[in-house]
Amino acid sequence: MKPLLVLLALGVLLGCEFGGKDREAARTLLAQHGCGTCHVIPDTPGANGRTGPPLTAMARQAYVAGVLPNTREALARFIADPQAVDPRSAMPDVGITPDEARLLADYLYAVGSGS
Ligand code: HEC
Repeated sequence: MKPLLVLLALGVLLGCEFGGKDREAARTLLAQHGCGTCHVIPDTPGANGRTGPPLTAMARQAYVAGVLPNTREALARFIADPQAVDPRSAMPDVGITPDEARLLADYLYAVGSGS
């Protein structure tokens, strides 16, 4: 197969991994909590805010918020309680649960491959 085809096939596979209900649930949470008013988030309707950094490459970044090595748990922890991670963070605590934060972390990894 040509490299482009391999890439396309991979994209389809990764897309399926996080699809359907989870993706819809994540998008609903993002909309409810206004994440997209502050962040550009790929594949997410209406998420084009510029107050915070664009979340376009979360799957490839070395750090979360510049302070935590980028793992699923770290990303979820920051989303659920930014000030617990960095007291000076300008990101507000939007009041979501740890489970919801994990779902959003998975979503951000799925859409944020950084192309
Ligand atoms: C009022 C604006 C605002 C809202 C609403 C907001 N954020 Fe943020 N966010 C920020 C700012 C500002 C930063 C940068 C601060 C920092 O890195 O500590 C940030 C940082 C982040 C980061 C780290 C980015 C990186 O490059 O490491 C993630 C992930 C993130 N936000 C996700 C979310 C999610 C998910 C939501 C909704 C639950 C959300 N944000 C809601 C302003 C916001």
